[in-house]
Amino acid sequence: MNISAIILAAGDGTRMKSSGPKVMCEVLGEPMIGWVMDSVKESGFPDENIGVVVGNGADTVKEYIAKKGQFLTFMQTERKGTGHAVMQAADMLQKGENVLILCGDAPFIDSDTILKSLNEHTYSDNDVTVVTAKIADPGSYGRIIRDENGGLLRITEKKDCTPEELMINEINSGVYWFKSTALKEALPLLSTANASGEYYLTDAVGIIKSKSGKAGAFISENSDIVLGANSRKDLLNLNTKARMRVIERLLDEGVEFPCTDGIIIGKDAVIGRDTKILPNTIIRGKTVIGEGCIIGPNSLIENTAVGNNVTLNNVQAYSAKVGNNVKAGPFVQLRPDTVLHDGVKIGDFVEIKNAEIGVKTSVAHLTYIGDSDVGKDVNFGCGCVTANYDGVNKFRTVIGDHAFIGCNTNLIAPVEIGENATTGAGSTVTGKIPADSLVVERAAAKVIEHWEKNSKRIRKA
Ligand code: UD1
Ligand code: CA
Repeated sequence: MNISAIILAAGDGTRMKSSGPKVMCEVLGEPMIGWVMDSVKESGFPDENIGVVVGNGADTVKEYIAKKGQFLTFMQTERKGTGHAVMQAADMLQKGENVLILCGDAPFIDSDTILKSLNEHTYSDNDVTVVTAKIADPGSYGRIIRDENGGLLRITEKKDCTPEELMINEINSGVYWFKSTALKEALPLLSTANASGEYYLTDAVGIIKSKSGKAGAFISENSDIVLGANSRKDLLNLNTKARMRVIERLLDEGVEFPCTDGIIIGKDAVIGRDTKILPNTIIRGKTVIGEGCIIGPNSLIENTAVGNNVTLNNVQAYSAKVGNNVKAGPFVQLRPDTVLHDGVKIGDFVEIKNAEIGVKTSVAHLTYIGDSDVGKDVNFGCGCVTANYDGVNKFRTVIGDHAFIGCNTNLIAPVEIGENATTGAGSTVTGKIPADSLVVERAAAKVIEHWEKNSKRIRKA
């Protein structure tokens, strides 16, 4: 492919007042830079043509983007401005005829805008095409300065604007297409003679114009696409917009929200029709939920696959799989690698981790199941615990179909309960228990009559 992309993500985020890198601040649970990377990837850039400039919190940013692909990263040790950031990634200019520059703190840029502006850029044979937007409150964005014929002249940063220029409401999105050769020539000409004392990438536009290059603007119809976050207030604003955008899409797709209070759903979530989402529910990551479910209230579902007609009430689920017609909650935690097959019932105060629970099995109260393979139609009484960890190693618990685990059974792994077997209430069980048997581990009850201590207590009262 004859295009490459540079994402600027080294900034200090002073205005965000965060000790971490600004681009890792999250919108709907996904770091802002993740949104930008997804849109760039969706536009068809191969990973090796995408370069990311990192600096503040470089390790955190690098670790995160490595999960999305094998991108090139460039270190900007000192933050001397957006122009300086691009200089660090100059290698990317060898990779294609045209280069796209984007900011890691403006998450809503989409592949549609990226590709349409490229079209405009190549069709007009521009040396630079700036993606702009007209917004009611141009705030701290760079202003687009045009000549009397409407041609693009330059970009002026807010701090450097005259009072008249401040009134301009066409702003720079921070997304640009450059001819690589034109940008290469402009970079050494950037200076720090401005109000911030930084190398502004925005000055490249004026420089290209002054050398008789061709500069154009691609005005984005949807002005939300350009929004960036420099402060916590901006970030909240982006979250609010993104949140309602996802909820509106889901409403169109037949998902029900009796009220949207406290509901945050990530942009990648897929939810089937007639599913109802109740207040204080957060759904994030690659979560897929089927039809006719009731999710919430007060639930957090992450990277989890949920079937149809499932009820999750006050449930936290992380990287789990839930079949059809499952009922879970209230106060349930499904930790990674939990698989609940169809018709499973999970009651209150139950935690399940790395375990497969068979069809129609019931775990109704106060129970922990970890590292286990549980068959179908098994019944757990109240307060059962798998003791899967001996302090050094973890072992599995295996329970056959139709087994009946009595209240307060401790299953010390490795342990295997055969099909149809029963464990007596209060038993601590280990080893291999045959099918169809009863295992009871309980000392015989001893009755001591006329218990002196209790009669003393009663006399005292
Ligand atoms: C920049 C633009 C402004 C535009 C706005 C759009 C400049 C000079 N100004 O302003 O015209 O309207 O974006 O959101 O370019 N960064 C680095 N290294 C640095 C400085 C910044 O990598 O030394 C990165 C930041 O992490 C950020 C991006 O570049 O992702 C933009 O930097 P920021 O300081 O936020 O620029 P703005 O003031 O928002
Ligand atoms: Ca910014």
